[in-house]
Amino acid sequence: MSGDFVPSVPLVDLHCHLVPGVDDGARSTEDAIRWLEAFRDARIERVVTTPHLSASHISSSWRDRIERRFEDLKREADERVPEVSLALSFEIRIDEPETDMSDERLALGGGALLVEFPQLMLPAYPDLMLASVSNQGWRPALAHPERYTGIGRSYDWIERWRESGVLMVVNVGSLLGEHGPEAERVAYQMLARGHADCLASDHHGRDGRSTMLRAGWDRIAAAGHEGVADLLASANPEAILAGEPCEPVPPVDLASSLVRRLRRMVRGSER
Ligand SMILES: [Fe+2]
Repeated sequence: MSGDFVPSVPLVDLHCHLVPGVDDGARSTEDAIRWLEAFRDARIERVVTTPHLSASHISSSWRDRIERRFEDLKREADERVPEVSLALSFEIRIDEPETDMSDERLALGGGALLVEFPQLMLPAYPDLMLASVSNQGWRPALAHPERYTGIGRSYDWIERWRESGVLMVVNVGSLLGEHGPEAERVAYQMLARGHADCLASDHHGRDGRSTMLRAGWDRIAAAGHEGVADLLASANPEAILAGEPCEPVPPVDLASSLVRRLRRMVRGSER
């Protein structure tokens, strides 16, 4: 964290992997508690943890296991990190569009369902996959739209999805270059066009993917756009969880803003 800026509002992370031993996130309760303590210290005070769940497994005993593990974690977390409000949802991998996804316990809250395409690939008919979610009464919130292979050459999809009401949940790690140059470029492009609805950490805590939501807030605030950082990391995720419309996010050219800010700092240090 830069230390130069501190959020004036609590941050809200609606995509991360804290339930121990059910996906490629936390391995143990102690992992998850340590990360929640770090979230608390970074002013992230509302967290929805979203284990991976394939649509084809929604009705399986595997899901029961995830829910039991979450209840165990929540008991421990409420006692040891009470400053952070922790809830369970899922990151639904749409592998079977025909699956019944109507169970309210799947939702982020507020009528939105966090979804992803399998294998970080654009499927043959991504609009139909997303329609399979909205046809069941949910507002799809698409996880890391900037990460799907080839999306840089097919940016039109992002515009089409947004027009059909799909929410865009951009990974902080993409903004910071942790998911490769294409994801970074598309994330910057989405911010420059006002196409990101919110930021989330997708925190897994391993394999170098341990970036917290606060790092994204810091990056945007440091470029001089604290209001946009608040919208993306606090007000809009809060609105999604409450079932309210997201506020439009003003376009920010993060690359140019950072260069301008660096130039000002260099000029200041030369005086
Ligand atoms: Fe994820």
